[in-house]
Amino acid sequence: MEFEDVIRGRRSIRRFKPEPVPQGLIQEILDEARWSPSWANTQAWSVYVVTGETLKRLRSVSKAPNASEASGGPDFRMPREWPPHLAARTKQLFDLRSAAGPGSTPAPGTTSLTDFYGAPCVLFFAVERGLASDYVLFDSGLIVQSVCLAAHDKGLGTCIMAMAVRDPDRLRELLPQAAEKQFIIGVALGYPDQEAPVNRFERPRAPFEELVIWAG
Ligand SMILES: Cc1cc2nc3c(=O)[nH]c(=O)nc-3n(C[C@H](O)[C@H](O)[C@H](O)COP(=O)(O)O)c2cc1C
Repeated sequence: MEFEDVIRGRRSIRRFKPEPVPQGLIQEILDEARWSPSWANTQAWSVYVVTGETLKRLRSVSKAPNASEASGGPDFRMPREWPPHLAARTKQLFDLRSAAGPGSTPAPGTTSLTDFYGAPCVLFFAVERGLASDYVLFDSGLIVQSVCLAAHDKGLGTCIMAMAVRDPDRLRELLPQAAEKQFIIGVALGYPDQEAPVNRFERPRAPFEELVIWAG
């Protein structure tokens, strides 16, 4: 794929086909993404690849009726309030998304969010407890973007999901190797359902002039 097509063609996928992603392909994506830059080449990140039975268990605990009450809250503060012009963009996104219909069909009494939009694989990005600085989070964003672009280049879809890590205590229970880690973000990964309207709605961008300030 041409680089410009990779950049412009990637979009958040919110309905996946159920087919599993071959492990070799996941490995290729992560092997490419690990060339992402980081503060002084620290590469403080780890990625947990959750599939199969483990993902099934995660889905069922996330869907438990008392799931949100049990939560001790996310490891990193999530933004709640935005200035009006940015709040208007979040509203626009939610309006466009809901007009396009739901993501993966939710089981009764649950939301499609807890299904990770039906993805057969979820990547969880984490750092050692106590290590996270703003720049470690910044670095994690770089590798996450690399993963999303590499996946798109190989015909796969992704959705970066803060909501996937809103209950990190459950993740630590489920992933004993991560007992001392803090979870930054999840990325749903799988084959996109290209026909689903939720994967096709327009996502506007701020005008170029708002982004770029020329000086000199
Ligand atoms: C840090 C971060 C967290 C996000 N969390 C979610 C999420 O929990 N659920 C979701 O559906 N999309 C989530 N997204 C996807 C954004 O909504 C999406 O990137 C944005 O609307 C732009 O659309 P695009 O990715 O299709 O270009 C997240 C994106 C980022 C960068």
